Amino acid sequence: MSNNSQTEKKISKLNALKEQAQAGGGKARIDKQHKLGKLTARERVNTMLDEGTFREMDMLAHHHSSEYGLDKTIFLGDGVVTGYGQIDGNQVCVFSQDFTVLGGSLAEQHGRKICKVMDLAMKTGVPVIGLNDSGGARVQEGVISLGAYADIFLRNTLASGVVPQISLILGPCAGGAVYSPAITDFIIMVKSTYMFVTGPKVVQTVTHEVLTSEELGGISVHGAKSGVAHFTCENDLEAIEVVKKLLTYIPSNNSSEPPFKPTNDDNNRIDENLNNIIPANPNQPYDIKEVIKTIADNGEFLEVHEDYAGNIVVGFIHLGGRSIGVVANQPMVLAGVLDIDSSKKAARFIRFCDCFNIPILTLEDVPGFMPGKVQEWGGIISNGAKLLYAYCEATVPKVTVITRKAYGGAYDVMSSKHIRGDFNFAWPTAEIAVMGAKGAIEIIFKKEMDEAEDKMAKELELIEEYNEKFANPYIAASYGYVDDVFEPKYTRSRLIDAFKMLENKVDKNPYKKHGNIPL
Ligand code: HXC
Repeated sequence: MSNNSQTEKKISKLNALKEQAQAGGGKARIDKQHKLGKLTARERVNTMLDEGTFREMDMLAHHHSSEYGLDKTIFLGDGVVTGYGQIDGNQVCVFSQDFTVLGGSLAEQHGRKICKVMDLAMKTGVPVIGLNDSGGARVQEGVISLGAYADIFLRNTLASGVVPQISLILGPCAGGAVYSPAITDFIIMVKSTYMFVTGPKVVQTVTHEVLTSEELGGISVHGAKSGVAHFTCENDLEAIEVVKKLLTYIPSNNSSEPPFKPTNDDNNRIDENLNNIIPANPNQPYDIKEVIKTIADNGEFLEVHEDYAGNIVVGFIHLGGRSIGVVANQPMVLAGVLDIDSSKKAARFIRFCDCFNIPILTLEDVPGFMPGKVQEWGGIISNGAKLLYAYCEATVPKVTVITRKAYGGAYDVMSSKHIRGDFNFAWPTAEIAVMGAKGAIEIIFKKEMDEAEDKMAKELELIEEYNEKFANPYIAASYGYVDDVFEPKYTRSRLIDAFKMLENKVDKNPYKKHGNIPL
């Protein structure tokens, strides 16, 4: 046999092996996946990455177990597709679990492959994107499967704050398997999938509650109630679009700057409608998302946690091309009050931005912290402190605009200058005070109110006097607690200038192993 035909034979063998790997769990299982409206693991990767950029690793890896007849069911790749490629020209590392192979179950080789690609991401400083679709720990490989999960959890934790980690939930995600996505920065969950620590059957046995998987851990649960999912989507393709959008705002690692997105939107655009957005009645709501979209480049806003804790709005915009994380009280929901869920939501978002050098814009209109037994018993003290801690700790550029109410402790918390907010601006409609007029006069004028003949008239008189005195930004301005008061219509240009000024800001926290945020 000539050298050439020897090589040809070897090449044929290689091609046959690769074809075998690409066949996954076989046509029938792939058809089933498609019938459910799901893409296969490779289809997902190829759709997400720029065409022709995916380089697969460990395609020929397989398990070495013989338990329960596993030696007769060897699938090349071991149920997960791993490798690297590009999204809009930016390098990323990817793993994509293949449900058609042993239900995408995770075991020794499957886990090792994920760890290898995570290690590569850490060495090279690129994001890790995990596409999860798995029946969890592979039963046949027992404790080895559990160990493989723990190897991943450790890497998730070590990578946290070093490279962005994004998890897509595209199929079942149950048991301890939920904890890998839970440690990552963003969870994007698709309809008809679920996440739970214990499934409906165990729940029924232990608590006698009868629930479907959807009711226990579907997208409506994690998108709106638990807040576990940052984004919820109709299908795989929508979820992939969210990944692509997210990557236009976040850098590859903690030593890089977020990507600059050139814009043809005028930096000096004046938005007259902002001058009329604050209602005459201070108790009337308005939509803070309208403010965000008005000032953002081309009105684009990528909202995170859209359906969870709507009294605070968080997400990303570009301002003059710069990526900015926005935290904004939402007067449309619970008057924008800070409660347990909104504090946790905003705190985590602020910490993400701070990890990855994304400046933070705070839009403030907050009547204070939510009173009541439910909140106190639920720990509003330590949960509210998470938000305070996150703002205090953050060293990225921080700019605040007080649009209306900045009352009580919430004034301090929402990135005030006292906690290293770099610029605090106010609109002329701002009301910066210890509390609203009604509450205040009930405390300081109790005696006068009791003694007044016409209580209503006295109350109105005192409210008017209090509002005149305190419901404005000028006392704060007189102490330098706000740097400037400007007309709302100039907000876009003033913010672009402020963030430009802060471009090279350097701020440091004292040396420590790590702080002790009140978890
Ligand atoms: C091995 C598994 C598997 C698993 C599914 N399969 N899960 N094989 N270990 N954990 C296999 C099935 O045998 C089947 O193989 C194929 O995957 C598809 O599974 P089906 O059951 O036919 O699919 P479906 O009806 O869609 O149901 C999917 C499912 C169900 C809901 C995920 O398979 C299921 O309940 N699996 C077990 C889930 C679970 O309890 N996992 C352990 C969680 S504990 P064939 O050959 O027929 O195609 C855990 C601990 C993590 O994960 C520890 C971290 C700390």
